[in-house]
Amino acid sequence: MSKLRHGIIGCGLISTWHAYAINELSKTMPIQLVGAADVRLESARDFCAKYGVQAYETIEDMLNSDEIDSVSICTPSGFHANLAMQAAKHGKHIVVEKPMAITTEQLNALEDTCKQNHVILTSISQMRFLPNIQRARKAVQGGELGKMLCGDVYMKFYRSPEYYGQSNWRGTWKLDGGGALMNQGIHGIDQLLYIMGPVKSVYARCKTLARKIEVEDTASVVLEYESGALGVIQGTTSVYPGYPKIFDFNGELGTIKMEEKHFIEWKVKGKGTPSDIVFTRADPNGANRPDGNDMGEHIPQLNDFFCSILENRPPMIDVKEGRRPVDLILAIYESSRTGRLVDMKEFANRG
Ligand SMILES: NC(=O)c1ccc[n+]([C@@H]2O[C@H](COP(=O)([O-])OP(=O)(O)OC[C@H]3O[C@@H](n4cnc5c(N)ncnc54)[C@H](O)[C@@H]3O)[C@@H](O)[C@H]2O)c1
Repeated sequence: MSKLRHGIIGCGLISTWHAYAINELSKTMPIQLVGAADVRLESARDFCAKYGVQAYETIEDMLNSDEIDSVSICTPSGFHANLAMQAAKHGKHIVVEKPMAITTEQLNALEDTCKQNHVILTSISQMRFLPNIQRARKAVQGGELGKMLCGDVYMKFYRSPEYYGQSNWRGTWKLDGGGALMNQGIHGIDQLLYIMGPVKSVYARCKTLARKIEVEDTASVVLEYESGALGVIQGTTSVYPGYPKIFDFNGELGTIKMEEKHFIEWKVKGKGTPSDIVFTRADPNGANRPDGNDMGEHIPQLNDFFCSILENRPPMIDVKEGRRPVDLILAIYESSRTGRLVDMKEFANRG
């Protein structure tokens, strides 16, 4: 069988995770990293020299090439939707970094464009593939904790003023699309949705308290899930010293607490800890680093993406799944802006 040939658009921090995952997967799958492009040709050349692949002069050159079947979009978030739509119109299958897009208009246009051009798109939510996250979901959805009452995530991270000062896109509405929630907090929000199920309504306060940025550096959100359970999201990038993300899932019969991807508590009335549950702790500083997650965590999602092309089936995180955390974050921003409770269905159907 001929190989699936993959290209990368945007050669910064996260592109190396994609290259690493593709090179690992290529050991056992018919796939190959063939090239990359970046608005800064120098960045593309440096990246391509490191991986021994072709540097395209422009993004258009890469998308016009018959030697590319699929692309990863690893640019600042505000460019994701337009680049993904361009790729779709050239018939390329797409992996787009999180967030898939940063406005409802972009999300809708991207969904339509992928459908019209019959291409597969997956939006990176690499942590859904982690075994402990899947195990927590099985427990919550399968009733191991009884009727669910609360599902919370606390993301109290630290990003220095320099982190924002040294970037021309982080902390801006146009290119980051938001702050502590849209950029750093989206993973925790996505995992909360994956484990607890869909949200019915949100009430939020988002503020810029400590950093000189346009977007929120601190947010507090109250959720009601469609199941009737309640939840809390706290997100900040500005508290010292910063802490790993904490999840709290509480049912009538039991509680699971997680620190990042680690179980730190599993208590169910009248039962011992299940034999497959191991308690471990997160790196105390991991959540404070933009590259604090494990590089290899992209491998299962990219594996699923390439299998979906080879097997002609939807990926586990398709456009509809990928947009869920973004839709929720946009509703949170709307609630904070208006000072009102936002009903998710009304928000989705607004004119
Ligand atoms: N999944 C994760 O855990 C994770 C972690 C970090 C970043 N990200 C996401 O990855 C994306 C990139 O983040 P990063 O930290 O790698 O940023 P970065 O600033 O390190 O790199 C961005 C690269 O894109 C290039 N670029 C800018 N505009 C472009 C355009 N229009 N076309 C082509 N190239 C362009 C820049 O020159 C730069 O090389 C963001 O959307 C971010 O949210 C995801």
